Amino acid sequence: MTPAPLTYNWLARQLHWIMAALVFLMFLLGLTMTVLPLSSTRLEMITWHKWLGISLLAMAVLRLIWRVVTPHPNLDNSATPPLMEKAAKAGHIALYLLLFAVPLIGWMYSSAAGFEVILFEIFRLPDLVSKDKILADQLALLHEVAAWSLMALVAGHIFAVLIHHLLYKDPVIKRMRPNKSHLLILGVALAVGLSLFLNYRLINPPAELPVKAEDSGAAEKLAKTEAAPENTAATWKIDHTASQLEFTATQKSAATKGSFKLYKLTRLHFDPISPEAAEVKLEVDISTLQLGNTLIEQTLLAKGWFDVKTHPKAIYQAKGFTPQGDNRYQLEGNLTINGITKPQLVELTIVPGESEVGQPRLTAEGTAEISRTSFNIGEGEWASTDTLKDEVTLKIKVTAIKPQ
Ligand code: HEM
Repeated sequence: MTPAPLTYNWLARQLHWIMAALVFLMFLLGLTMTVLPLSSTRLEMITWHKWLGISLLAMAVLRLIWRVVTPHPNLDNSATPPLMEKAAKAGHIALYLLLFAVPLIGWMYSSAAGFEVILFEIFRLPDLVSKDKILADQLALLHEVAAWSLMALVAGHIFAVLIHHLLYKDPVIKRMRPNKSHLLILGVALAVGLSLFLNYRLINPPAELPVKAEDSGAAEKLAKTEAAPENTAATWKIDHTASQLEFTATQKSAATKGSFKLYKLTRLHFDPISPEAAEVKLEVDISTLQLGNTLIEQTLLAKGWFDVKTHPKAIYQAKGFTPQGDNRYQLEGNLTINGITKPQLVELTIVPGESEVGQPRLTAEGTAEISRTSFNIGEGEWASTDTLKDEVTLKIKVTAIKPQ
């Protein structure tokens, strides 16, 4: 049997120091980006935070496999009291667990908040959980607590190494001694992390954010207007439980999904026999915009984006639907957002039917490609489409019922 080596092998050392450098950088990046207002700098930092965090996760997997398949060094800890030995073992296990848990929770948070992770703009990673705002808020907190716990453990780890070296004078430090390139990597990571942290925390204090309109208020407003619709010929009501107005924006190549919770039909006339006489007017309550992240929601409602105070509604209206076969129709209507009206093509599959209680029902499903910059959604630095693409895809599923 070959004797166990006295030090950690080459790959174990490389991984140890690269991972250590990344943990410090990730932590400082995390603390910096979360205090920034929504800007391309913040998004850039979050993107790098995710990319480096996933790389760290991959290294943790590799490190664990390597530890299992290669002989572990013969750790002569005879000078160490047994209690400290036990504490060291528990600390190492906890370090491993958190090295997996922190990035995994970050990834889950990203999925729950509706943000895809596309590693280095090449590998599209699967969503770990489906979009859920409440879960996203819980995971954000868990990610933060886990990241702080990881840092506390790292501090304990460094302290323990110093005790070994200075008090017990044993060779623990030698087994994982950093070489010049390790020190360089560590130094660069710390310098980058600290300079970002100091720079942005000092120069860019957190911005005051506009207050988001309460959903309950929006619901009340909507209920009032729905009771007195413009449409007299047919009073259709949207069944919100079976409807969805979802948009997908693309930042770098990662998709971000959001939705509007409340919208109403103030005009609807549709008869498949005479689609040329069909008419629709849909009003969307902008204040009910939902995304997995409160900061982004608040920013999107503010001036420079949807400016909800000045323009609380988006309106789409079309007259005369062009049949495309198989219940499919093309609507060449007008869309008004931010007080700007532009022609907007919408493609829908419209299926007439009946509700369980025999009321007439219409289900319309389809998509529309909207150019956000045509409606001044995202001004200033956001007018450029480098970070946030111009095309926003709207996915429409509206089920309307006509109570008799
Ligand atoms: C060891 C790896 C990681 C560490 C040490 C770390 C650390 C942190 C820290 C300290 C924060 C700030 C928490 C706060 O103050 O609110 C944060 C935020 C965040 N992290 Fe991580 N993280 C890691 C990996 C990841 C990964 C892999 C992802 C996603 C793929 C991720 C996604 C996020 C997101 C989305 C935020 C909040 C961004 C925002 O809402 O502004 N993290 N992270």
